[in-house]
Amino acid sequence: MAEKFYITTPIYYPSRKFTLGNCYTTVICDAVSRFNKLLGKDVFFMTGTDEHGQKIAQAAKNAGKTEMEYLDEMIADAKDLWKLLKVDYDKFIRTTDDYHVSAVQKIFKQLYDKGYIYKSAYKGKYCVPCESFWTESQLIDGKCPDCHRDVIDQEEESYFFKLSEFGDRLLDLYKNDPEFLQPQSRVNEMINNFIKPGLDDLCVTRTSVKWGVPVDFDPKHTIYVWIDALSNYITGLGYGSDDDSMFKKYWPADVHVIGKEIVRFHAIIWPAILMALDIPIPKRVFGHGWLLFGGDKLSKSKTVSSVECVDPRILAPRYTPDAVRYILLREIPFGSDGNYSTELFLERINSDLANNYGNLVSRTFSMLKKYCSSVIPEALEEDDIDTELKQTVFKAVQDAKKYIETNFDVSKALASIFEIFSMANKYIENTEPYRLAKDEEKKARLGTVLRNLLESIRIGTVLLSAFLPDCSKSVADALHIEKYDYEDVKEFYMLSAGDTVDELGILFPRLDIQKELEELAKIEENKQ
Ligand code: MSP
Repeated sequence: MAEKFYITTPIYYPSRKFTLGNCYTTVICDAVSRFNKLLGKDVFFMTGTDEHGQKIAQAAKNAGKTEMEYLDEMIADAKDLWKLLKVDYDKFIRTTDDYHVSAVQKIFKQLYDKGYIYKSAYKGKYCVPCESFWTESQLIDGKCPDCHRDVIDQEEESYFFKLSEFGDRLLDLYKNDPEFLQPQSRVNEMINNFIKPGLDDLCVTRTSVKWGVPVDFDPKHTIYVWIDALSNYITGLGYGSDDDSMFKKYWPADVHVIGKEIVRFHAIIWPAILMALDIPIPKRVFGHGWLLFGGDKLSKSKTVSSVECVDPRILAPRYTPDAVRYILLREIPFGSDGNYSTELFLERINSDLANNYGNLVSRTFSMLKKYCSSVIPEALEEDDIDTELKQTVFKAVQDAKKYIETNFDVSKALASIFEIFSMANKYIENTEPYRLAKDEEKKARLGTVLRNLLESIRIGTVLLSAFLPDCSKSVADALHIEKYDYEDVKEFYMLSAGDTVDELGILFPRLDIQKELEELAKIEENKQ
């Protein structure tokens, strides 16, 4: 039976349209999911939306719509975006789905019955117009961080989760399972900033927020965001429903991929809730860095100039979904932040996609057409230079797998695959097939060189299918590759000599960067 692999994105707030930053988390998960499918695993990839809370109710009100009208539109837009970016999820969970709501109520009741939830009073700073509680440290100059108005001291009856009881068990978890939270640097952050100073019990209901899951045995209380949101990872598999076979099959999650600002919720609160419920904790939590726009996490910030285009709905149709996926997957070093700029995006298209992969494929296909009528030749000999090419290819095959499996390092995995294409381009310069073609006696050598190029392209393309599904499919189709399988990239001569390859158009036309920047600036200006 195939090994199972369960991967999740955070569930996103649909209080505004998804940004390129949200696309970052999702596209990483999609690539890791596809790569694991390539490895032959039984993958389940879940994403979704976090639809309760005051912010959503407010956004709906501002739009003059009911909550569900507003949410249905936002979710349709989110799904369109994932389709546009070729995100191939297995399940999309909405926290307003009936099965989720009733499972959250059951989870809440279980925690209450086990004595991990108790009723008390929440004291905090309250903003009346925003109907929101804030902690002292969240206030800006003593005022509401959202509307900048005065806040008042207020008390509200609330239920609390006994988070304070879990400090030692969490420390044991980090110690006994150093792989649990990645990258490693985030573990110290959790210990020093949150656990060592002492964990406070967590307020888990509100009476002031109406748009949420009611506590079924005390309905004036609404279950506050985190128990509702975090539970999605198990309710989406059927936990708390009549049919929990998916839960039995896929839980614990192999990885929750999340942004660094929500690591605390996933590495402290979520394991504590699961421990309280006697459910195994996820195998890994991976807290990635941010894509920065002019130094800022939010693309809407004023620091983004009008030359910057950060809208995936404009970029993907204009430059291909693969190009957008490429910049997201390639540009952020493992676990750290990375800068996005439109210029960098366009430069990467030219240097990596057009000049490296695109050029290799088009040169090889056109030589094959010219010298061999597009028929795949036999490799009849092996020179040192051929051995060297094969070694680079096999190293990349191993490295890509290693980077994905050990720490979800999509950026390094992609860089390894591009090593294949750079090396193959160099191989063309060094073997000079166009010269070999002029000499009748070098026909066999020419055949070997072209065959080695085709095999390098085949292997690189199959690996690339996890990251850039469209361009790799065009190449795979032209080579008549029917299925993607990691086993096939471990072997060099898998194409059939004598078969004909199909014609292939230009994968990525070279861009005039200055012209594109001007065009995009115009598009952005017209939007404003
Ligand atoms: N709803 C919560 C998550 C609940 S999970 C049980 C939430 N939603 S969110 O919509 O605000 O953010 C979701 C994800 O988008 C986070 O992982 C966040 O890091 C990611 N990103 C949003 N902007 C980002 C960048 N600029 N760069 C990278 N990822 C960032 O938090």
